[in-house]
Amino acid sequence: MAYASFRSIGAYVPEKILTNQDLEKIVDTSDEWITKRSGIKNRHISADDQTASDLGKEAALIALKRAGMTAEDLDMIIVASISGDYLFMPSTACVLADKLGVKNIPAFDVLAACTGFIYALSTAKAYIESGMMKNILIVGAEALSKFVDYSDRTTCVLFGDGAGAAIITATDNADERIRDIHISADGTYQDFLITPGGGSKHPCSAYVTDERLHFMKMKGNETFKVAVRTLTNDVEEMVKNNNITLDDIKLFIPHQANYRIIKAVGDAIGIRDDQLVLTVDKFGNTSAASIPMAINDAYEAGRLKTGDLMLLDAFGGGLTWGSALVPYAGK
Ligand code: UT7
Repeated sequence: MAYASFRSIGAYVPEKILTNQDLEKIVDTSDEWITKRSGIKNRHISADDQTASDLGKEAALIALKRAGMTAEDLDMIIVASISGDYLFMPSTACVLADKLGVKNIPAFDVLAACTGFIYALSTAKAYIESGMMKNILIVGAEALSKFVDYSDRTTCVLFGDGAGAAIITATDNADERIRDIHISADGTYQDFLITPGGGSKHPCSAYVTDERLHFMKMKGNETFKVAVRTLTNDVEEMVKNNNITLDDIKLFIPHQANYRIIKAVGDAIGIRDDQLVLTVDKFGNTSAASIPMAINDAYEAGRLKTGDLMLLDAFGGGLTWGSALVPYAGK
C-alpha cells in the first residue's frame, strides 16, 4: 500500500511590514493592547499588484526545490485560501498552475478558512492512499490585507499576508506516513468569522460596499472561547487515538491566530515551550497560510529534522477545525 508522506516545505512573505506602531496611526489602538491581547507585533502586507497566487508561487518553488522536484512532476495542485485571486472563478489553484507552467493536471481550491491547510493535507493524503496520485502540491496562500477593513480596529490589527507550500508524496516506507488527520466543522457558528458580501446571499452592489460587507468580520471573543475548547479536545483525542505521549512529539505547530489561544491549548494538554512553534508575533494571523509558514519557520531555524513528529492544529471560519500527526519526511 502507498502511504502519504510530508516531503518538503516552503514559505514566502511579501516585503512590506505593517507594525503595531503603524496601526496606531490608522485606528484607535495601541501596541500595548495588540501585544497583550494577541501577541502580534508585525504582519507582512502584499503589494498592490501581488495576489494570493503570486505569494503561493514563491512558496511552491521553494517546496519543489527542497523536494528535488519540478512542477512537471506534480499530479495535482490544491490551494487553501480565503483571499484568492478571484471571487470563486477561476480557482487560485488554476492560476497558480499556470504561473508554475503546468497544465492538464487537476487543480482546485479548498475553502476551510484557517483550517484550510489541514483540509488540503487530508485531501492530498486521501488521493495518495487511494492510489490515484503520487505527487501533490498543497499551498496555503493569503492576501488577506485586500479583505481587511482598515477602519475596523477589531480585525485590522490581527491579519497579515503570506504563503506556505508543501509537497506530499507517495511512499512505501510506513515510518514516513502521515499518521493521522482529523477534520471537522460546525456551521451553527457560521457568523463568527464571515465575509458577508459578494456571494449569492449579498451579491456585489453599492449596498454591499457602502455597508462594508465585502470585508472580513469576526466575533473575536466568542471565537476565542470556542477555539480554546475545541482545539484542546481535538488535540487530546489525536494523541490518545494514536497511542502516543506528548514526549513523542517534537514540535507542536498550531494555527497562529492569537498567542493566548496557543498558550491556553498548549498548557491544557501539557506541551513544553521547547515543543511550541510561535510565529504570530512576526506574521500575525495568515489564515490558511499560517501553519505551513510556521512549519517553514521551524525548518529554517533548524528545529525540524527528518523523522521529527509534528502535531498540527487549526481552527477557523465555518467554523472548521482539525489536527494532524505528521512526521517530517524531507531532508
Ligand atoms: O483565525 C481564525 C480564528 N480566530 C481566532 O481564533 C481569533 C479569536 N479571538 C481573538 O484572538 C481575540 O478575541 C481578539 C484578539 C480578537 C480580541 O481579544 P479579546 O480579549 O477577546 O478582546 P474583546 O474582543 O473582548 O475586546 C475587549 C475590549 C473591547 O472594549 P470594551 O468593550 O471592553 O470597552 C474592545 O472594543 O478591547 C476593545 N478593542 C480594542 N482596543 C484597542 C477591540 N479591538 C481593539 C483594538 N485596540 N485593536
